[in-house]
Amino acid sequence: MAVSRRVAELRREGVEVFDLGAGEPDFPSPETAVKAVQRALDEGRTKYTVLEGTPELRAGLAARYGARGAPWGAANVLVTVGAKAALYQLAKAFLSPGDEVVVPTPAWVSIPAQVRLAGAAAVTAPMAAADGFAIRAQPLVEAMSERTRAVIVNSPCNPTGAVVSILDLERIAAACAERNALLISDETYERFVYDGKRHASVASLAARYPETVVLVGSFSKTYAMTGWRLGYLLGAPSVVAAAAAVQSHVTSNATSFAMAGAEAVLESEPPEAADLVAACARRRRRLLAELDRIPGVVCPPPAGAFYAFPDVSAWFDEDCPDSVAFSRRLLDEAGVATTPGSAFGCEGHIRLSYACRDEMLASGLERLAGLLSGAGEAGRRRAG
Ligand SMILES: Cc1ncc(COP(=O)(O)O)c(C=O)c1O
Repeated sequence: MAVSRRVAELRREGVEVFDLGAGEPDFPSPETAVKAVQRALDEGRTKYTVLEGTPELRAGLAARYGARGAPWGAANVLVTVGAKAALYQLAKAFLSPGDEVVVPTPAWVSIPAQVRLAGAAAVTAPMAAADGFAIRAQPLVEAMSERTRAVIVNSPCNPTGAVVSILDLERIAAACAERNALLISDETYERFVYDGKRHASVASLAARYPETVVLVGSFSKTYAMTGWRLGYLLGAPSVVAAAAAVQSHVTSNATSFAMAGAEAVLESEPPEAADLVAACARRRRRLLAELDRIPGVVCPPPAGAFYAFPDVSAWFDEDCPDSVAFSRRLLDEAGVATTPGSAFGCEGHIRLSYACRDEMLASGLERLAGLLSGAGEAGRRRAG
């Protein structure tokens, strides 16, 4: 939040800022989705819908994950106001004071925050930096107790880009089922997996653990539809009913005509979605190559999402003791916006988003390299 405020301030002052902070694809939303909304508005689809989402959208989502082995039908689907609302409604529906939720860290900021908003405790299980923060079952299972009500896994992960393997996911699912805890799998970045890797989804485990496995997803990143606010969860009918009960008092249905756009992208996959992943793959290669050249910046290649999470602690000193100070320095001295690792529960790192325009990424990286190789004030200080 502090970085965003400073970005706005600098821009108001006329300073050019290269924003590698935002987790938002630069692509426009798919044409088919936009056209479908225009049609829906013309047809007057502007009224409340069924709370759980339109039957077409629910059936489309069930079919999508059914293709990955899940025994889910439309009744197993709840359409929500973004994946964020799906996660929050699950927290409100299932958590009480005294409950614990195990969260691998680094973690997306809202995950532990929502657990706390529901009155429960987020038990963090740090993943190993040396392992590229890969999400492993062992530390998660070790962090479970008799109070554990859920484990929330986010793969590919925001902010690290790390993923979970199907074997680890299976172990986590088994450990959850044994304790009657939910495995909530936030698969918001499911499409953004690189180097020929396959995304491991709980959809393939739902038949074995039907009562405890919950999949959360979103149209935001896959289809560059962040502003549409459309997400969903799939799980047991009892899970859908509990989350829907919360939704009924908070947002009611997701926006009627936005759902028409989502129905259209499920009906015929828009080519823009694959183009976006291809652009991210290209930008990722460029980013990693550039980071590799910068002294004191260590970044194992992230397997997925559209973030890099390099260790920059070699650049910390008395004047710049942590990731917040380092991010501020990058912004003030190089005009590059990044997100400090401490926001994700991991000091020593910063998050760089490469979902931005190619020119923005290229200029941002150039400024970053310039600053850290001696051209900027910080570099000069270090050089001498
Ligand atoms: C891991 C993760 N989950 C969920 C979301 C929220 O997505 P939505 O826009 O669907 O609310 C985000 C957004 O940044 C995210 O990074």
